[in-house]
Amino acid sequence: MSAISEQSPERLLERFNQKFGRTPEHISTFFAPGRVNLIGEYTDFTGGLVFPCGINQGTTLLIRRTHDHQYRFASTNFDLMAQLNQQEISQTYGDNWINYPLGVLDQFARRGVTLDGFDCLYAGNVPNGAGLSSSASIEVVTAFALNQLLHTELSLLELVRVSQSAENDFVGMQCGIMDQFAVAFAQVGHAMMLDCHTVEHRQVPLNLDGLCIIVTNTNQRRELNESAYNNRVRECQRALELLAPATGISYLGQLLPEQLAEHESLFASDAIPLQRARHVSNENARVRAAVPALEAGDMQAFGELMNDSHDSLRDLFEVSSDPLNQLVRLAREQPTVLGSRLTGAGFGGCTVSLLPASGADTFIRSVGPAYTAATGLTADFYTIQPGDGVRSISQETSL
Ligand code: GLA
Repeated sequence: MSAISEQSPERLLERFNQKFGRTPEHISTFFAPGRVNLIGEYTDFTGGLVFPCGINQGTTLLIRRTHDHQYRFASTNFDLMAQLNQQEISQTYGDNWINYPLGVLDQFARRGVTLDGFDCLYAGNVPNGAGLSSSASIEVVTAFALNQLLHTELSLLELVRVSQSAENDFVGMQCGIMDQFAVAFAQVGHAMMLDCHTVEHRQVPLNLDGLCIIVTNTNQRRELNESAYNNRVRECQRALELLAPATGISYLGQLLPEQLAEHESLFASDAIPLQRARHVSNENARVRAAVPALEAGDMQAFGELMNDSHDSLRDLFEVSSDPLNQLVRLAREQPTVLGSRLTGAGFGGCTVSLLPASGADTFIRSVGPAYTAATGLTADFYTIQPGDGVRSISQETSL
């Protein structure tokens, strides 16, 4: 209850005025969701296929131009309020969440856009570091807002690229395009099949027909996730170097499982890149099978592909963790569960499970305590409603 009223438009405007004071300049409000990826994990930076949807939780941004060449950032989630000048915004700000908006400002500056000061208040209800793209949601809402306030007329796809580059170049995480794309292009009631090489996407209605999608947060603290992630990117690049001459592929996402089987001997002293390539080629094949299964209403098949995806992320790509594996195991022990897997970057964070809506309460009541008994951690459960992508909410003055 309190979380909802704390995030109500009136309350947020009040918080904005308390933090930054009242001026005649407009305050604009924008929203970008988080996302959950249903299948197609660790394929995006190889130019492969993914199948995410937007969620109802996200980041609301209240923003005002100030023209004073000062940049003030505050959040309803953390106490910190930072005020930076024109020089300071081009440097990272410790290990802080402010690096996400700063990375976006940096991308606008690199494109020759003149920035002259903003007050920004962020209010998010996507759990941080849980694999639901709280960071992409901050980046995309910032890029979308700047585009509108500065009349830069970048397309939504360009804003996605700006946001991804903010993460790659400023934050230093070599992520692919999935999160920012999903957060920008999400459509209520749909998941999107995205080809991360061509960036062509197709919205697929999520006709769950009595089923539901439950995201479960391990609440495990993620550590070393950025460097482990970047290592996976390098290992996939190595696999591509080894395979490209013999197969003619120009990006790893093109690799078919049968091509890999034929050329395994190329990996004589590179066992790890071979494992990574096997995951990527199989995972792409799983996405190619999962989407028609969903469209045909074959949710059993969809669930099995989710299970295989997790096992591959655990054994071949090695991005799972004990709490994630425990949660997946406990979920699959529930007779009604069709499939369960880790979602997002792994190393902690969330699982996504598919089950009959009528079994949701039993699922939560059974898996929650069993998870605590197995790990000492407390899980959080969210039922996902696929929501819309980034959007403008309102514009008003505080006087
Ligand atoms: C993170 C990255 C994405 C993607 C996923 C794994 O969320 O930001 O680009 O690689 O991990 O699928």
